[in-house]
Amino acid sequence: MTLPETMRAIEISEPGGPEVLTPATRPVPQPGPGQILIRSAYAGVNRPDALQRAGSYNPPPGASDLPGLEAAGEVAAVGPDVSGWRVGDAVCALLPGGGYAEYVVTPAAHALPVPKGMTLREAACLPETFFTVWSNVFMRGGLRAGERFLVHGGSSGIGTTAIQLARHFGARVFATAGSDDKCAACLRLGAERAINYRDEDFVEILRAEGGADLILDMVGGSYLPRNVKALADDGRLVQIAFLQGPKVDLNFAQVMTRRLTITGSTLRPQSDLAKARIAEALRARVWPLLEAGRVAPVMDSEFPLEEAAAAHARMESSGHVGKIVLRIS
Ligand SMILES: NC(=O)c1ccc[n+]([C@@H]2O[C@H](COP(=O)([O-])OP(=O)(O)OC[C@H]3O[C@@H](n4cnc5c(N)ncnc54)[C@H](OP(=O)(O)O)[C@@H]3O)[C@@H](O)[C@H]2O)c1
Repeated sequence: MTLPETMRAIEISEPGGPEVLTPATRPVPQPGPGQILIRSAYAGVNRPDALQRAGSYNPPPGASDLPGLEAAGEVAAVGPDVSGWRVGDAVCALLPGGGYAEYVVTPAAHALPVPKGMTLREAACLPETFFTVWSNVFMRGGLRAGERFLVHGGSSGIGTTAIQLARHFGARVFATAGSDDKCAACLRLGAERAINYRDEDFVEILRAEGGADLILDMVGGSYLPRNVKALADDGRLVQIAFLQGPKVDLNFAQVMTRRLTITGSTLRPQSDLAKARIAEALRARVWPLLEAGRVAPVMDSEFPLEEAAAAHARMESSGHVGKIVLRIS
Protein backbone atom coordinates (compact mmCIF):
# COMPACT_ATOMS: atom_id res chain seq x y z
CA MET A 1 0.00 0.00 0.00
CA THR A 2 1.42 3.41 -0.96
CA LEU A 3 1.10 5.83 1.92
CA PRO A 4 0.68 9.59 1.55
CA GLU A 5 2.91 11.93 3.55
CA THR A 6 0.06 13.95 5.03
CA MET A 7 -3.48 13.28 6.18
CA ARG A 8 -6.71 15.05 7.17
CA ALA A 9 -7.22 15.32 10.91
CA ILE A 10 -9.15 17.22 13.56
CA GLU A 11 -7.07 19.00 16.17
CA ILE A 12 -7.90 20.84 19.37
CA SER A 13 -6.86 24.42 18.66
CA GLU A 14 -7.16 25.42 22.35
CA PRO A 15 -9.10 24.09 25.36
CA GLY A 16 -12.78 24.94 25.00
CA GLY A 17 -16.19 24.01 23.58
CA PRO A 18 -16.93 21.94 20.46
CA GLU A 19 -15.93 24.88 18.21
CA VAL A 20 -12.22 24.39 19.06
CA LEU A 21 -12.22 21.13 17.05
CA THR A 22 -10.51 22.34 13.90
CA PRO A 23 -9.75 20.60 10.57
CA ALA A 24 -5.98 20.34 10.02
CA THR A 25 -3.34 18.60 7.94
CA ARG A 26 -0.84 16.42 9.79
CA PRO A 27 2.00 14.05 8.78
CA VAL A 28 0.95 10.39 8.51
CA PRO A 29 2.37 8.66 11.63
CA GLN A 30 4.81 5.74 11.31
CA PRO A 31 4.28 2.51 13.25
CA GLY A 32 7.05 1.77 15.78
CA PRO A 33 7.99 -1.64 17.21
CA GLY A 34 4.89 -3.63 18.14
CA GLN A 35 2.56 -1.12 16.46
CA ILE A 36 0.29 -1.12 13.43
CA LEU A 37 -0.79 1.81 11.26
CA ILE A 38 -4.54 1.86 10.54
CA ARG A 39 -6.18 3.66 7.61
CA SER A 40 -9.46 4.51 9.34
CA ALA A 41 -12.89 4.41 7.76
CA TYR A 42 -14.71 5.47 10.94
CA ALA A 43 -13.79 6.73 14.41
CA GLY A 44 -15.98 6.48 17.50
CA VAL A 45 -16.80 9.58 19.58
CA ASN A 46 -16.65 9.24 23.36
CA ARG A 47 -17.26 11.46 26.37
CA PRO A 48 -13.55 11.38 27.30
CA ASP A 49 -12.84 13.10 23.93
CA ALA A 50 -14.96 16.02 25.15
CA LEU A 51 -13.03 16.10 28.43
CA GLN A 52 -9.75 16.20 26.48
CA ARG A 53 -11.11 18.97 24.25
CA ALA A 54 -12.06 20.98 27.36
CA GLY A 55 -8.52 20.58 28.73
CA SER A 56 -9.30 18.22 31.63
CA TYR A 57 -8.10 14.85 30.25
CA ASN A 58 -4.61 15.13 28.82
CA PRO A 59 -3.17 12.41 26.56
CA PRO A 60 -0.70 10.09 28.29
CA PRO A 61 3.04 10.58 27.52
CA GLY A 62 3.89 9.54 23.95
CA ALA A 63 0.26 9.56 22.71
CA SER A 64 -0.95 11.73 19.83
CA ASP A 65 -2.39 15.10 20.86
CA LEU A 66 -5.28 14.53 18.43
CA PRO A 67 -8.53 13.33 20.05
CA GLY A 68 -10.03 9.90 19.35
CA LEU A 69 -9.78 6.66 21.33
CA GLU A 70 -11.13 4.11 18.83
CA ALA A 71 -11.33 3.50 15.10
CA ALA A 72 -11.98 0.85 12.47
CA GLY A 73 -10.51 0.45 8.99
CA GLU A 74 -7.71 -1.57 7.42
CA VAL A 75 -4.13 -2.23 8.41
CA ALA A 76 -2.03 0.12 6.26
CA ALA A 77 1.45 -0.79 7.59
CA VAL A 78 2.96 -3.04 10.21
CA GLY A 79 5.88 -2.05 12.47
CA PRO A 80 8.78 -4.29 13.56
CA ASP A 81 8.01 -7.20 15.93
CA VAL A 82 4.33 -7.48 15.02
CA SER A 83 2.75 -10.86 14.40
CA GLY A 84 -0.85 -11.69 13.61
CA TRP A 85 -1.62 -8.65 11.42
CA ARG A 86 -1.03 -8.07 7.69
CA VAL A 87 -1.53 -5.06 5.47
CA GLY A 88 -5.14 -5.03 4.25
CA ASP A 89 -6.67 -6.80 7.29
CA ALA A 90 -9.95 -5.33 8.53
CA VAL A 91 -9.35 -4.10 12.05
CA CYS A 92 -10.83 -2.16 14.94
CA ALA A 93 -8.65 -0.90 17.75
CA LEU A 94 -8.37 0.88 21.04
CA LEU A 95 -6.13 3.93 20.57
CA PRO A 96 -4.00 5.96 22.99
CA GLY A 97 -5.28 9.01 21.02
CA GLY A 98 -5.22 10.25 17.44
CA GLY A 99 -8.46 8.66 16.21
CA TYR A 100 -9.87 11.81 14.58
CA ALA A 101 -7.60 11.38 11.54
CA GLU A 102 -7.23 9.36 8.35
CA TYR A 103 -4.32 7.32 9.76
CA VAL A 104 -3.50 6.32 13.33
CA VAL A 105 -0.93 4.09 15.07
CA THR A 106 -1.66 1.82 18.01
CA PRO A 107 -0.10 -1.22 19.72
CA ALA A 108 -0.97 -4.32 17.67
CA ALA A 109 -2.05 -6.05 20.88
CA HIS A 110 -4.86 -3.47 21.30
CA ALA A 111 -6.36 -4.28 17.89
CA LEU A 112 -9.09 -6.83 17.25
CA PRO A 113 -10.54 -8.22 14.03
CA VAL A 114 -13.76 -6.67 12.76
CA PRO A 115 -16.38 -9.21 13.93
CA LYS A 116 -17.74 -11.22 11.00
CA GLY A 117 -20.94 -9.69 9.64
CA MET A 118 -20.28 -6.30 11.20
CA THR A 119 -19.70 -3.07 9.27
CA LEU A 120 -16.64 -0.87 9.87
CA ARG A 121 -19.06 1.81 11.07
CA GLU A 122 -20.30 -0.45 13.86
CA ALA A 123 -16.86 -1.88 14.59
CA ALA A 124 -15.47 1.63 15.19
CA CYS A 125 -17.87 1.91 18.14
CA LEU A 126 -16.70 -1.22 19.92
CA PRO A 127 -13.25 -0.73 21.48
CA GLU A 128 -13.57 2.11 23.99
CA THR A 129 -16.89 1.00 25.45
CA PHE A 130 -16.27 -2.76 25.32
CA PHE A 131 -12.77 -2.47 26.89
CA THR A 132 -14.21 -0.18 29.58
CA VAL A 133 -17.27 -2.29 30.36
CA TRP A 134 -15.47 -5.62 30.30
CA SER A 135 -12.63 -4.44 32.53
CA ASN A 136 -14.85 -2.62 35.04
CA VAL A 137 -17.98 -4.77 35.21
CA PHE A 138 -16.49 -8.24 34.80
CA MET A 139 -12.75 -8.10 35.62
CA ARG A 140 -12.82 -5.47 38.39
CA GLY A 141 -16.48 -5.68 39.46
CA GLY A 142 -16.66 -9.49 39.22
CA LEU A 143 -20.31 -9.56 38.07
CA ARG A 144 -21.81 -13.05 38.31
CA ALA A 145 -24.96 -14.67 36.93
CA GLY A 146 -28.01 -14.02 39.09
CA GLU A 147 -26.62 -10.84 40.68
CA ARG A 148 -28.51 -7.55 40.66
CA PHE A 149 -26.56 -5.05 38.53
CA LEU A 150 -27.34 -1.31 38.40
CA VAL A 151 -25.84 0.84 35.65
CA HIS A 152 -26.28 4.61 35.64
CA GLY A 153 -26.43 6.42 32.28
CA GLY A 154 -28.07 3.32 30.78
CA SER A 155 -28.58 4.94 27.36
CA SER A 156 -24.95 6.09 27.01
CA GLY A 157 -22.40 4.28 24.86
CA ILE A 158 -21.11 2.66 28.04
CA GLY A 159 -24.59 1.98 29.43
CA THR A 160 -26.02 0.32 26.30
CA THR A 161 -22.98 -2.00 26.21
CA ALA A 162 -23.11 -2.78 29.93
CA ILE A 163 -26.83 -3.65 29.82
CA GLN A 164 -26.38 -6.10 26.96
CA LEU A 165 -23.29 -7.84 28.33
CA ALA A 166 -24.59 -8.08 31.90
CA ARG A 167 -27.90 -9.50 30.65
CA HIS A 168 -26.12 -11.94 28.39
CA PHE A 169 -24.02 -13.26 31.26
CA GLY A 170 -27.13 -13.82 33.38
CA ALA A 171 -27.29 -10.79 35.67
CA ARG A 172 -30.54 -9.00 36.58
CA VAL A 173 -30.09 -5.54 35.08
CA PHE A 174 -31.41 -2.21 36.40
CA ALA A 175 -30.58 1.00 34.54
CA THR A 176 -31.13 4.72 35.13
CA ALA A 177 -31.68 7.28 32.36
CA GLY A 178 -32.97 10.84 32.03
CA SER A 179 -36.11 10.38 29.89
CA ASP A 180 -38.89 7.86 29.23
CA ASP A 181 -37.59 7.28 25.69
CA LYS A 182 -34.13 6.48 27.02
CA CYS A 183 -35.68 4.17 29.62
CA ALA A 184 -37.58 2.37 26.84
CA ALA A 185 -34.26 1.88 24.99
CA CYS A 186 -32.71 0.36 28.15
CA LEU A 187 -35.62 -2.10 28.45
CA ARG A 188 -35.29 -3.12 24.78
CA LEU A 189 -31.61 -3.89 25.39
CA GLY A 190 -32.41 -6.28 28.24
CA ALA A 191 -32.80 -4.25 31.46
CA GLU A 192 -35.58 -5.72 33.60
CA ARG A 193 -36.23 -2.29 35.15
CA ALA A 194 -35.37 1.14 33.76
CA ILE A 195 -35.54 4.05 36.19
CA ASN A 196 -36.18 7.60 34.98
CA TYR A 197 -34.06 9.39 37.57
CA ARG A 198 -36.02 12.60 37.11
CA ASP A 199 -39.21 10.99 38.52
CA GLU A 200 -38.08 7.96 40.49
CA ASP A 201 -35.57 7.17 43.25
CA PHE A 202 -33.16 4.42 42.27
CA VAL A 203 -32.22 3.87 45.94
CA GLU A 204 -35.79 2.94 46.92
CA ILE A 205 -36.23 0.72 43.88
CA LEU A 206 -32.99 -1.21 44.44
CA ARG A 207 -33.50 -1.55 48.17
CA ALA A 208 -36.96 -3.03 47.55
CA GLU A 209 -35.20 -5.69 45.46
CA GLY A 210 -32.64 -6.46 48.18
CA GLY A 211 -29.98 -4.00 47.01
CA ALA A 212 -27.57 -3.95 44.08
CA ASP A 213 -24.70 -6.44 44.14
CA LEU A 214 -22.78 -4.26 41.67
CA ILE A 215 -23.19 -0.64 40.54
CA LEU A 216 -21.38 0.89 37.56
CA ASP A 217 -21.44 4.66 38.02
CA MET A 218 -20.29 7.58 35.89
CA VAL A 219 -22.24 10.31 37.75
CA GLY A 220 -20.55 10.58 41.18
CA GLY A 221 -21.36 13.70 43.27
CA SER A 222 -24.71 13.25 45.03
CA TYR A 223 -24.91 9.71 43.61
CA LEU A 224 -22.02 8.52 45.79
CA PRO A 225 -23.88 8.34 49.14
CA ARG A 226 -27.03 7.19 47.32
CA ASN A 227 -25.11 4.39 45.61
CA VAL A 228 -23.77 3.25 48.98
CA LYS A 229 -27.37 3.09 50.28
CA ALA A 230 -28.53 1.21 47.18
CA LEU A 231 -25.88 -1.51 47.53
CA ALA A 232 -26.68 -4.88 49.07
CA ASP A 233 -24.43 -6.16 51.88
CA ASP A 234 -21.07 -7.15 50.33
CA GLY A 235 -21.98 -5.02 47.27
CA ARG A 236 -19.42 -3.39 44.96
CA LEU A 237 -19.42 0.10 43.47
CA VAL A 238 -17.24 0.71 40.41
CA GLN A 239 -16.72 4.37 39.54
CA ILE A 240 -15.73 5.21 35.94
CA ALA A 241 -16.39 8.97 35.85
CA PHE A 242 -17.68 11.89 37.93
CA LEU A 243 -20.09 13.86 35.73
CA GLN A 244 -21.43 15.53 38.92
CA GLY A 245 -17.96 15.90 40.48
CA PRO A 246 -15.66 13.74 42.64
CA LYS A 247 -16.03 15.44 46.04
CA VAL A 248 -18.76 14.61 48.52
CA ASP A 249 -19.43 14.03 52.24
CA LEU A 250 -19.65 10.29 52.76
CA ASN A 251 -20.14 8.29 55.95
CA PHE A 252 -17.83 5.31 55.51
CA ALA A 253 -19.29 3.40 58.46
CA GLN A 254 -21.62 1.56 56.09
CA VAL A 255 -18.67 0.48 53.97
CA MET A 256 -17.29 -1.25 57.05
CA THR A 257 -20.47 -2.61 58.63
CA ARG A 258 -21.98 -3.86 55.36
CA ARG A 259 -18.64 -5.00 53.85
CA LEU A 260 -18.93 -2.82 50.73
CA THR A 261 -16.22 -2.34 48.12
CA ILE A 262 -15.71 1.01 46.41
CA THR A 263 -13.34 0.94 43.46
CA GLY A 264 -12.95 2.33 39.95
CA SER A 265 -10.58 2.80 37.04
CA THR A 266 -9.81 4.77 33.93
CA LEU A 267 -8.72 2.91 30.83
CA ARG A 268 -6.40 5.32 29.05
CA PRO A 269 -3.51 5.57 31.56
CA GLN A 270 -3.27 1.79 32.05
CA SER A 271 -0.19 -0.06 30.78
CA ASP A 272 -0.02 -1.52 27.28
CA LEU A 273 0.08 -4.98 28.89
CA ALA A 274 -3.07 -4.38 30.92
CA LYS A 275 -4.94 -3.25 27.79
CA ALA A 276 -3.61 -6.25 25.84
CA ARG A 277 -5.03 -8.55 28.53
CA ILE A 278 -8.44 -6.90 28.23
CA ALA A 279 -8.25 -7.32 24.43
CA GLU A 280 -7.48 -11.04 24.82
CA ALA A 281 -10.44 -11.52 27.15
CA LEU A 282 -12.76 -9.66 24.77
CA ARG A 283 -11.59 -11.75 21.82
CA ALA A 284 -12.31 -14.97 23.71
CA ARG A 285 -15.51 -14.07 25.59
CA VAL A 286 -17.26 -11.25 23.72
CA TRP A 287 -16.25 -11.33 20.03
CA PRO A 288 -18.16 -14.61 19.50
CA LEU A 289 -21.29 -12.90 20.87
CA LEU A 290 -20.87 -9.99 18.45
CA GLU A 291 -20.38 -12.41 15.53
CA ALA A 292 -23.51 -14.32 16.55
CA GLY A 293 -25.49 -11.05 16.72
CA ARG A 294 -26.33 -11.63 20.38
CA VAL A 295 -24.76 -8.32 21.38
CA ALA A 296 -24.42 -5.28 19.11
CA PRO A 297 -23.38 -1.65 19.42
CA VAL A 298 -26.30 0.78 19.56
CA MET A 299 -25.75 3.39 16.85
CA ASP A 300 -27.03 6.94 17.38
CA SER A 301 -25.68 9.08 14.54
CA GLU A 302 -22.88 9.68 12.04
CA PHE A 303 -21.02 12.89 11.16
CA PRO A 304 -18.27 13.53 8.57
CA LEU A 305 -14.82 13.93 10.16
CA GLU A 306 -14.82 17.65 9.36
CA GLU A 307 -18.03 18.03 11.44
CA ALA A 308 -16.53 16.64 14.64
CA ALA A 309 -17.67 19.81 16.44
CA ALA A 310 -21.32 18.98 15.62
CA ALA A 311 -20.76 15.41 16.85
CA HIS A 312 -19.47 16.74 20.18
CA ALA A 313 -22.37 19.18 20.47
CA ARG A 314 -24.79 16.27 19.98
CA MET A 315 -23.03 14.20 22.65
CA GLU A 316 -22.98 17.05 25.13
CA SER A 317 -26.67 17.80 24.54
CA SER A 318 -27.28 14.26 25.95
CA GLY A 319 -29.97 13.81 23.27
CA HIS A 320 -28.30 10.68 21.96
CA VAL A 321 -28.87 7.00 22.67
CA GLY A 322 -25.80 4.82 22.06
CA LYS A 323 -22.81 5.73 19.93
CA ILE A 324 -21.87 8.64 17.66
CA VAL A 325 -19.34 8.02 14.86
CA LEU A 326 -17.21 10.12 12.53
CA ARG A 327 -17.04 9.04 8.87
CA ILE A 328 -13.46 9.43 7.68
CA SER A 329 -13.27 7.90 4.19
N1 LIG B 1 -13.17 5.16 33.24
C1 LIG B 1 -13.01 4.92 31.97
O1 LIG B 1 -12.07 4.26 31.54
C2 LIG B 1 -14.01 5.46 30.99
C3 LIG B 1 -13.94 5.10 29.64
C4 LIG B 1 -14.93 5.58 28.77
C5 LIG B 1 -15.93 6.41 29.27
N2 LIG B 1 -15.93 6.77 30.58
C6 LIG B 1 -16.98 7.64 31.13
O2 LIG B 1 -18.20 6.96 31.05
C7 LIG B 1 -19.25 7.90 30.83
C8 LIG B 1 -20.04 7.46 29.62
O3 LIG B 1 -19.24 7.62 28.47
P1 LIG B 1 -19.92 7.60 27.03
O4 LIG B 1 -18.85 7.84 26.06
O5 LIG B 1 -20.79 6.41 26.96
O6 LIG B 1 -20.75 8.96 27.13
P2 LIG B 1 -22.23 9.38 26.79
O7 LIG B 1 -22.83 8.45 25.79
O8 LIG B 1 -22.20 10.82 26.49
O9 LIG B 1 -22.95 9.16 28.19
C9 LIG B 1 -23.02 10.02 29.26
C10 LIG B 1 -24.39 9.75 29.92
O10 LIG B 1 -24.40 10.29 31.22
C11 LIG B 1 -25.69 10.77 31.51
N3 LIG B 1 -25.49 11.99 32.28
C12 LIG B 1 -24.82 13.08 31.86
N4 LIG B 1 -24.80 14.00 32.85
C13 LIG B 1 -25.45 13.44 33.91
C14 LIG B 1 -25.76 13.88 35.21
N5 LIG B 1 -25.35 15.08 35.66
N6 LIG B 1 -26.45 13.06 36.03
C15 LIG B 1 -26.85 11.84 35.60
N7 LIG B 1 -26.57 11.36 34.36
C16 LIG B 1 -25.88 12.16 33.53
C17 LIG B 1 -26.40 11.03 30.20
O11 LIG B 1 -27.62 10.36 30.23
P3 LIG B 1 -29.00 11.06 30.69
O12 LIG B 1 -29.46 11.95 29.58
O13 LIG B 1 -29.87 9.88 30.91
O14 LIG B 1 -28.70 11.84 31.92
C18 LIG B 1 -25.52 10.35 29.14
O15 LIG B 1 -26.19 9.30 28.49
C19 LIG B 1 -18.60 9.26 30.63
O16 LIG B 1 -18.70 9.99 31.81
C20 LIG B 1 -17.16 8.93 30.33
O17 LIG B 1 -16.26 9.93 30.71
C21 LIG B 1 -15.01 6.31 31.45
